[in-house]
Amino acid sequence: MTQFQEKATVTRRELLSSDNVRLTFQSAKIASAAEPGQFVMIRVGAGKDPLLRRPFSIHQATAEGTLQIYFKVVGRGTAMLAGIREGDEVSILGPLGRGFQLTDSPVCLVGGGLGIAPMLFLATRLGERRSGQIHGRVLLGGRTRMEVEPLLGDFEQTGFPVLVATDDGSFGQRGFVTAIFSTLDLPPDCTVYCCGPEPMMASMAVLSRERHLHCQVSVESAMACGMGACLGCSRTARNGEYVHVCLDGPVFDAEDMAWTF
Ligand SMILES: Cc1cc2nc3c(=O)[nH]c(=O)nc-3n(C[C@H](O)[C@H](O)[C@H](O)COP(=O)(O)OP(=O)(O)OC[C@H]3O[C@@H](n4cnc5c(N)ncnc54)[C@H](O)[C@@H]3O)c2cc1C
Ligand code: FES
Repeated sequence: MTQFQEKATVTRRELLSSDNVRLTFQSAKIASAAEPGQFVMIRVGAGKDPLLRRPFSIHQATAEGTLQIYFKVVGRGTAMLAGIREGDEVSILGPLGRGFQLTDSPVCLVGGGLGIAPMLFLATRLGERRSGQIHGRVLLGGRTRMEVEPLLGDFEQTGFPVLVATDDGSFGQRGFVTAIFSTLDLPPDCTVYCCGPEPMMASMAVLSRERHLHCQVSVESAMACGMGACLGCSRTARNGEYVHVCLDGPVFDAEDMAWTF
């Protein structure tokens, strides 16, 4: 896998809710090499403070060099990134990690909270492969309307039918997105793709296993280097061995992971 370090220009900054931001960059090399499920490491400050880059899923990427990330402000690094302006330049390293295995069989994409981020690029690529013959759907879950509604139109443009659940019932069905999944009639060759909070992915692993469906999950971990050098992202697999989320993942077969929930 080829990786690049690029100075990328911010071409668009969208505040999609009070603390959810989408940034669009012109990043020719990284965007054109990116695959769904991969991530980038971004230097959030102009100098060396903070020292460590921050990891973000690739939300969207095009062959023309457009790269997007979608993130929530949770601390100092993401606050600095949210304060960036159109025309500014940032240093981006990527694309990193192993992404989703794409399939031509029916699919069900399940994104919860910030786990919605990588699902747009995945839905776009899967939609393109199907050239109008869509066998699948996208399920999006969030705590409240503003976590889902601003992204709905982009998902609908991929051609997949989209079903929504929110914890407070302010948009779509009330409750967890896993409840929608449980009610769906899915063919036995359906591949499930999932990214979201750890308990949600653990549930999806169980629900998929019960239905004998292949499920791929994109997991998170604290990351310092993103390239296999610091061991900071290690996580226990089901067989008891350690895996590096940055190199071996972030996408794994749900059956290969040890779930603690
Ligand atoms: C492969 C990968 C892809 C990611 N993709 C996205 C994305 O698309 N959108 C997005 O909003 N975030 C994503 N994250 C999480 C994002 O990297 C962190 O939110 C960010 O690094 C926090 O930086 P900070 O300096 O603002 O917060 P810090 O000051 O470092 O931390 C603030 C709080 O956030 C928590 N936190 C920090 N890193 C993580 C993490 N990796 N997972 C969970 N909690 C964390 C800390 O424990 C602390 O409570 C991803 C993480 C990984 C590993
Ligand atoms: S983040 Fe350093 S080894 Fe994975």
